Amino acid sequence: MRLFLAAGLPDELLGQVDEVRSSLAGRLDGWRWVRPAGVHLTLCFLGEVAPESDRRARGTWCRVAGAARPFRIRLGRVGHFPVGGRPRVLWLGVEETDPGDALAALAAEVGHAARALGWDATSRPFHPHLTLARGGRGGRPDRPHVVARPAGNEFRVRELVLYCSRLEPGGARYTALESFPLGHPAGGT
Ligand code: 2AM
Repeated sequence: MRLFLAAGLPDELLGQVDEVRSSLAGRLDGWRWVRPAGVHLTLCFLGEVAPESDRRARGTWCRVAGAARPFRIRLGRVGHFPVGGRPRVLWLGVEETDPGDALAALAAEVGHAARALGWDATSRPFHPHLTLARGGRGGRPDRPHVVARPAGNEFRVRELVLYCSRLEPGGARYTALESFPLGHPAGGT
């Protein structure tokens, strides 16, 4: 199973993402758009994981989530990876609105725990984003030019979610396997 950990996103935020996605899809050619249900905020990609290792790691994700605290985010600007050359990923940035960098700290803690468990989890700088589309093979997708920022509503993130990614002909399909609440129940939000 290909597994990764992501921040749990509230439905209202996903609705706003879908509005941005639809408006961009009408203006930019050459992209394969992610299914609305497939939008996620990756914190740590684990890669291929044996069921036995997955079972053993679940307690760790529960502890990491419990030691973190809920935080608020809002949608940011649209951009693409890589900055130079043929764009491969079209994304919508995510910004934390509370002081304290809880989102970056959660990504760092998950990565640290994954490496302690023996995974070769990336230690690249964390760039929180929602992938909206991927560049098809061979083509030259349109670059996003001036795009209005989405309305600045704030949304609370309350969970760390373990996802499984299945590669299918129509694109990857993501299934949430388990959610781990952020913060200890006694600590409130
Ligand atoms: P992204 O879309 O947020 O960039 C599930 O495969 C997700 O893990 C991908 O959508 C991608 O998130 C992220 N990911 C990070 N590193 C990856 C890698 N080496 N291979 C595949 N996915 C990776």
